Amino acid sequence: MKQPQIGVYGLGTMGSALALNMAEKGVSVAVANRSPDKVPAFLDEAGDLAARISGQDSLEALIGALPPPRLLLVMIPSTAPMDAFLDEVIPQLAPGDTVIDAGNADFHDTRRRAARLAEHDLYFVGLGVSGGEDGARHGPSMMMGGSPESWDRLHPILEAIAARYDGTPCVARLGPDGAGHFVKTVHNGIEYADMQMLAEVYDLMRFGAGRTPVQIADAMARWNEGPLRSYLTEITARVLRYDDEATGQPMVDMIADSAGQKGTGRWTVIEAVRLGQSATMIEGAVAARAWSAEKPLRQRAEAAFGGARREIGIDEERLERAMLAARVLEYAQGFRILAQASEDFAWGLDPARIAEIWRAGCIIRADMLDDIAAAFRDGPPEGQLLLSPRFANALEQGIPELRALVGQAVAAGFALPVLSAALTWFDTMRQGRGTASVIQAQRDFLGRHGFERVDRDGGGYHGPWWE
Ligand SMILES: NC(=O)c1ccc[n+]([C@@H]2O[C@H](COP(=O)([O-])OP(=O)(O)OC[C@H]3O[C@@H](n4cnc5c(N)ncnc54)[C@H](OP(=O)(O)O)[C@@H]3O)[C@@H](O)[C@H]2O)c1
Repeated sequence: MKQPQIGVYGLGTMGSALALNMAEKGVSVAVANRSPDKVPAFLDEAGDLAARISGQDSLEALIGALPPPRLLLVMIPSTAPMDAFLDEVIPQLAPGDTVIDAGNADFHDTRRRAARLAEHDLYFVGLGVSGGEDGARHGPSMMMGGSPESWDRLHPILEAIAARYDGTPCVARLGPDGAGHFVKTVHNGIEYADMQMLAEVYDLMRFGAGRTPVQIADAMARWNEGPLRSYLTEITARVLRYDDEATGQPMVDMIADSAGQKGTGRWTVIEAVRLGQSATMIEGAVAARAWSAEKPLRQRAEAAFGGARREIGIDEERLERAMLAARVLEYAQGFRILAQASEDFAWGLDPARIAEIWRAGCIIRADMLDDIAAAFRDGPPEGQLLLSPRFANALEQGIPELRALVGQAVAAGFALPVLSAALTWFDTMRQGRGTASVIQAQRDFLGRHGFERVDRDGGGYHGPWWE
């Protein structure tokens, strides 16, 4: 076997899949795991690919097997275990070595860890990996944050294992230290919003329009042939077709309605607010998951007030146009957070490149991302997707449908945290003069904060209430 080009530490779901992907693409790889008994089992599972994999029974042995300067990819929880891992590994590494955290890390941790390793002349790369187990095994989308030197060494391996869109690998160095993990976090935030939007549409069709899960699956599959085509549209259509073997009921009816979350959606919202931004569709989706977990409260409240959902009419073509507009707004909000972070952290993020590497391999891959990449390459007015001529038609046609849908659904007692947030955001942004003059008057009255006037320069004006 050739000398290993890279080490993979952590043979859980994702680490195993990435190591197999590397071996399949001709990369020779050394592997190890905290519990060493997983290594022989992994090599068995690797079959013929094991010829390019060297199994090691400890971290020390793994480091010893790698030629310096080493590339060591770590796929373990990116929380406290990663810090403990760094405590253990730093004394064993040599200047010029690179540690790659390929887990879902909070980008603040990545920045801190990059600074820590730099003190030892080591490189630290924050690599966002999207696509789940299947993506990691056959081609993920990867968002790299780290030094240009690390990228020079890593990109041949990453480009070999990445998903491809029209032959172009879906991986890029997006900026230094935490840039890759931040972009991955916002990716997941958009994922939350899109999943919740599809769940709201399901709810309206099922309990408003009386469609069966299979009929809804048919509609989603049809939408998936057009501009709404995306991985999430496709899998929603697929899961709705299944029946539960034990009861014969639709599978979706047998699944408890309390959603899990691991934190990336929440991080997106927290960071958006910290950056002075807001992404209300992602907030709506995170809130919906939190409320879903409060099952006993919801049951008590239903008993007290009665459930509200009543019949509504659904036209699938109109609904498709409404969803398309909502999806444009969902991406527009996500990219605004990225733009603000790029400015605050001086990352120089390229939104077009981000859209390009999201076109394949990742969970939010969607046909629309090709148009989004093109829109950012054109340079939309104010840098805003919302104003891009490429989406003018989708918004012009979709907003009236979204308005009709939300209006009708709210009147019929449906809760639409994401679809209604989309409309509210759009209506706020399209209003040249908004409501903040009242807020400024209130602030001046209660705290003498002062305001600017529309007819004069400067600030610090006060209202007549102070005379
Ligand atoms: N699953 C996904 O779809 C997905 C997608 C993108 C990113 N990620 C991220 O990828 C990372 C790994 O996820 P996974 O799904 O592969 O997890 P997993 O299947 O649960 O595997 C966890 C791995 O981490 C190791 N580990 C746990 N605690 C450790 C510690 N304190 N010190 C050293 N090793 C430790 C485990 O070793 P043992 O065998 O000894 O327990 C195992 O190899 C996470 O950061 C996750 O957020 C996951």
